[in-house]
Amino acid sequence: MRAKSINILGIETSCDETAAAVVANGKTIKSSIIASQTKLHEKYGGVVPEIASRAHIEKIYPVIAEAIEQANISKDEIDAIAIANQPGLTVALIVGVTAAKTLSFIWDKPLIAINHLHAHLQSAMLTEQNLKLPAVALIVSGGHTCLYDAESALELKLLGSTIDDAAGEAFDKVATILKLPYPGGPAIERIAKEGNPDAIEFPRSMLGAESLDFSFSGIKTAVLYYCRGQDMKGENKVDSMSENEIADIAASFQAAVVDVLVKKTQRAAERIGAETILLGGGVAANSRLRAGLREMCNSNTDAKKLLIAPKQYCTDNAVMVASLAYYKFKAGLFADLTLEPKAYSE
Ligand code: KG4
Ligand code: ZN
Repeated sequence: MRAKSINILGIETSCDETAAAVVANGKTIKSSIIASQTKLHEKYGGVVPEIASRAHIEKIYPVIAEAIEQANISKDEIDAIAIANQPGLTVALIVGVTAAKTLSFIWDKPLIAINHLHAHLQSAMLTEQNLKLPAVALIVSGGHTCLYDAESALELKLLGSTIDDAAGEAFDKVATILKLPYPGGPAIERIAKEGNPDAIEFPRSMLGAESLDFSFSGIKTAVLYYCRGQDMKGENKVDSMSENEIADIAASFQAAVVDVLVKKTQRAAERIGAETILLGGGVAANSRLRAGLREMCNSNTDAKKLLIAPKQYCTDNAVMVASLAYYKFKAGLFADLTLEPKAYSE
């Protein structure tokens, strides 16, 4: 007799996407619904917490209902409710956490708490769960840039993280300087395709020969100086620049950020003798970063296996939440109704 599959409803509201998904046995995606708030935040050039919270409240019920309908299952066939409760914007997280606790209570289903960063890593493991260890995981998103020594998506040892801006944040801020649309990452990647990555030598902050930490505020400032002059007294020259000049700045900025991310990942891999490299988070959608890590993993004499999240599961989604929850379900790691949202990762 075939074992019954375990269906988990995952919910994600940590930032500006209201998402729900049903995933069976951690890998069969039965539905994935994402209501993006990009349009609401774009005129501010970043996520406004109060607006995000209100939009989550408006969308949470229809998004969950649609995920269940698209999965073509009844609520009785759902085995657990999983929620990303940290890290993120507290006023955004609280909407999903409250919805998940309510469903868990009224449907009498177990509740599973998921760390959003660990879920990003799970996206890279959707097709392959058994890692050849040791493994280095690079998580690059709008709020985080972290390197981990990963035993699984649930057992992570932090090797390094950003001491100032996250990589995605740098993309978003530089896009604002260049007057490109929000979110900045995809906009910079698009225009960078037309530019020369060697046109401008932007700084690559390595924080010394040993460090596995990152710093991206220097490069953001360098772009700002480039556009407004060292004394910051000049007008932002972007308005009078040609599209080619802007493309060159975007391409050179992207090349510098990717360079640092790849070199630091290589450094971490050497440090722990990694056999596998994992890549997840919103910035993992960037083609230059994907290609850079692929080259690094193939070019070394001791080639490493590279697992990258599929592009549609790099940015925030609930598939990664429902998928990772399966492994907590199997391990009996459940939360209860005292679960709270947490701004920071524990
Ligand atoms: O993981 P994510 O959806 O949300 C957080 O957990 O923060 O990541 C969003 C970030 C944004 O900063 C966005 O600009 C960046 O990921 N991003 C990209 C690309 N697509 C999204 N950055 C570079 N290239 C991309 N193609
Ligand atoms: Zn995220």
